Amino acid sequence: MNRREFIKLGSGIMATGAIASVMAGCESPAETPVIDRGKPIGLRFPPVLQGGTINASYGATELWPGTATNVLLLNQSYLGPSIVLQRGAQVNLNFMNALGEPSIIHWHGLNIPPKMDGHPMDAVPSGSNYQYSFSVNQRAGTYWYHAHPDLLTAKQAYLGFAGVVIVQDPEEQALSLPRGEFDVPLVIQDKRTTNASTEVPYAPSHEDKIAGYLGNEVFVNGTPNAFMDVQTGLYRFRVLNGSNARVYRLGFVDERIFHVIGTDGGLLDRPYEVRECFLAPGERVEILVRFSVSDISKSLLLESKEFSLAGSHGGNSSHQGEELRIITFNVKSESNQDLTIPSALSQFERLSEAGAVRERVFPLTMDHSRSQGIHMIDGKVFEMDRSDYQIPFGDLEVWEIQNQAEGMHSMHVHGAHFQILERRFAGQMTPVDYGWKDTVLVNDNETVRLAIRFDSFKGRYLFHCHFLEHEDDGMMVNIDVI
Ligand code: C2O
Ligand code: CU
Ligand code: CU
Repeated sequence: MNRREFIKLGSGIMATGAIASVMAGCESPAETPVIDRGKPIGLRFPPVLQGGTINASYGATELWPGTATNVLLLNQSYLGPSIVLQRGAQVNLNFMNALGEPSIIHWHGLNIPPKMDGHPMDAVPSGSNYQYSFSVNQRAGTYWYHAHPDLLTAKQAYLGFAGVVIVQDPEEQALSLPRGEFDVPLVIQDKRTTNASTEVPYAPSHEDKIAGYLGNEVFVNGTPNAFMDVQTGLYRFRVLNGSNARVYRLGFVDERIFHVIGTDGGLLDRPYEVRECFLAPGERVEILVRFSVSDISKSLLLESKEFSLAGSHGGNSSHQGEELRIITFNVKSESNQDLTIPSALSQFERLSEAGAVRERVFPLTMDHSRSQGIHMIDGKVFEMDRSDYQIPFGDLEVWEIQNQAEGMHSMHVHGAHFQILERRFAGQMTPVDYGWKDTVLVNDNETVRLAIRFDSFKGRYLFHCHFLEHEDDGMMVNIDVI
């Protein structure tokens, strides 16, 4: 594996010694610790993977300094290590499962063979390992990995089984984009927290399984109440929505303009100016944000702005569309980095309806008379061994996703990227819909049309909702590329 020095290396890695000593004392807490949730915490950066093993275990970490919280650790880190790969690199990686329950790693957005993709049928029991070996053959961009075992994906991802994968290539490296400390991954995840407890347990009610498990507080790179000290200049933030079911409407409190430069499958053709963008679970957006001299000594809050959605209340007081703070950027000092925003970024093939061989319709529906398998794709609830769709290798298809299942859904495809053609009945396309995608937000009562071509590998992949409670409920189908 080809590894490179990464952004803010080491600056936020928690000391393992401190964690170990806290863990020793957390077996039977004598008193309930009280968390000062108002205290800002410097943004953490998971370590960059420095070896061929990812070891998953349950353990404790200091989400809030000085107190231990039970989470899921990857190589003793919360969140999982970041992985930086060059296009063309060979990845050899051993997944060691020490969770006490089955698991498997899925490489979200990577074009790799079915046996490397982390289908739940390949989940390994605790005490076993799974050997990954694949080459990186795709556009530079922000991808990620997370757990994908049947029925346990939501719990494991919520508790920390997730990390960032960054792919670089010469085309992207040749552009004058922010690098080094100006290139920052932001993994945003909502959690349920209280002042009285350091635990963030995953315990969805029936209502949560329907609305999704929504939290009241957003963690960034595993950091609650996060802030980051920045300098003046242009920053590239790689924002990944790693939440189970939370849709964000990202924007700065001061309504400043920023530029969308990339989406799930890498760079767009050019930067697009916005003041806000939606980001659904599983989606990534890369944005350029400028902090100027007049911002020095300001604290600039990136938040999720309020939006309204009928029937969005889950089993707790949190609801989809509520306003949430994400991270504060404290502009500290002047740097000599003053990059201009490139006018052009990347050239890529445009898929259109015209060349499509066939069209498929996927109605998303719900059946409230059931206690599980409530969410369906085209009337189907996930079955591990059933072949749901047979898709000829290399054929361009149009897929029409019709949301007749109340609320929002975030539909994700393994094994191929697609391009969104159209949104009908609920809204317009925005820059987060542009370019190569693997995940798309489908709004309430909306129909989304996309063009897709499976031309990487044959075999069994998946199409599912990335609201992980919906996925675990069975809102997932097998896609066989033949
Ligand atoms: Cu990121 Cu099958 O999912
Ligand atoms: Cu995926
Ligand atoms: Cu869903």
